[in-house]
Amino acid sequence: SAAEKGGWDSFMDKEIHEDPAAVSNTLLGRYDESGDLDLDEVHIDEDVFRQIDKIIVVACGTASYTGLVAKYAIEHWVRIPVEVELAHEFRYRDPILTPRTLVVAISQSGETMDTLMALRHAREQGSRVLAICNTQGSTIPRESDAVLYTHAGPEVAVASTKAFLAQIVAAYLLGLYLAQVKGTMYRDEIHQTIDNLKDMPAKIQKVLDSQADVINQTAQRMSKARSFLFLGRHVGYPVALEGALKLKEIAYIFTEGFAAGELKHGPIALVEPGEPVVVIVPSARGRNVLHDKVISAIEEVKARGAFTIVVAEEGDPDADRYADVVFWRPPCPTLLSPLVDVVPLQLFALDMARLKGLDVDKPRNLAKSVTVE
Ligand code: AGP
Repeated sequence: SAAEKGGWDSFMDKEIHEDPAAVSNTLLGRYDESGDLDLDEVHIDEDVFRQIDKIIVVACGTASYTGLVAKYAIEHWVRIPVEVELAHEFRYRDPILTPRTLVVAISQSGETMDTLMALRHAREQGSRVLAICNTQGSTIPRESDAVLYTHAGPEVAVASTKAFLAQIVAAYLLGLYLAQVKGTMYRDEIHQTIDNLKDMPAKIQKVLDSQADVINQTAQRMSKARSFLFLGRHVGYPVALEGALKLKEIAYIFTEGFAAGELKHGPIALVEPGEPVVVIVPSARGRNVLHDKVISAIEEVKARGAFTIVVAEEGDPDADRYADVVFWRPPCPTLLSPLVDVVPLQLFALDMARLKGLDVDKPRNLAKSVTVE
């Protein structure tokens, strides 16, 4: 009903605007006054965590992109390998699991059958399973050894938005906690990262407030486009995949997201005059080598006539050189940037779907939770 949507004309619109709250509520109560991580709620012994030598994330769709973000952050912070696997592939390939493997099952609904089957398999093989889940008391957390809840609040729209941000925060918390118990980061660094995370809701809010108009104008210009390519590197790669999935599922536009480095290995053949290409640009600060590589990817597609839509950090001196449009986001540490970079892509998909007159909350052929294998 209109009342449930709280004044917004769709749940998706409402839920995107709850992105900042999803982040702050998921952080709440997970660290103490000094800034140390406090995850007692997880009920896994610190000693057990200390022994973990590998993480395998199992998930589907958007939740699997959270897993990719987690891989970049946790491998950097904790120095243990993190594999990310689509739950339906994992289950049927005889994965290598030991008691020292932590399987992390990520699911908004907690009812996705593919993810449930994967976690059952992992537990049968003797691994511990930690669920990251947004739905209290759902099947996946009930069948897991432990759970770290995301506090995004109920998500109604089929396209996942605020739950994605909350999952990313939960994955960071898990990574920082592991770094704390294993001693792979200085306490100061952990506290600084928590402080940086606390700043993210205001930055997300700024994207929502300041970029809505340019995003809407861009959607109007692009309303007839038949396909989109999305490119990113490092943590921008899962953001590209998520931006592509959003546009595909609610606006029914053919999209492909890929790692920008792959461009020359095939996808650049698709670029012809007018082809829209969305590029996530990493921060230019700290002489980030990836920044320049992504800028030259924009140059490459621009030279072939692409219409380039760029997501970049405020103050980036190179972002608009080859861009037709820029969606700006506030500066933040690279590993945390998916929390701001994905927001304009959520709004863009919403605007594109609306302009096509589609039911954004209930796209055709899709269910909110996929409870069959
Ligand atoms: C996201 O927009 C999709 N509707 C879908 O990919 C979803 O993320 C996937 O089905 C997993 O759902 P879950 O998080 O409830 O397990």
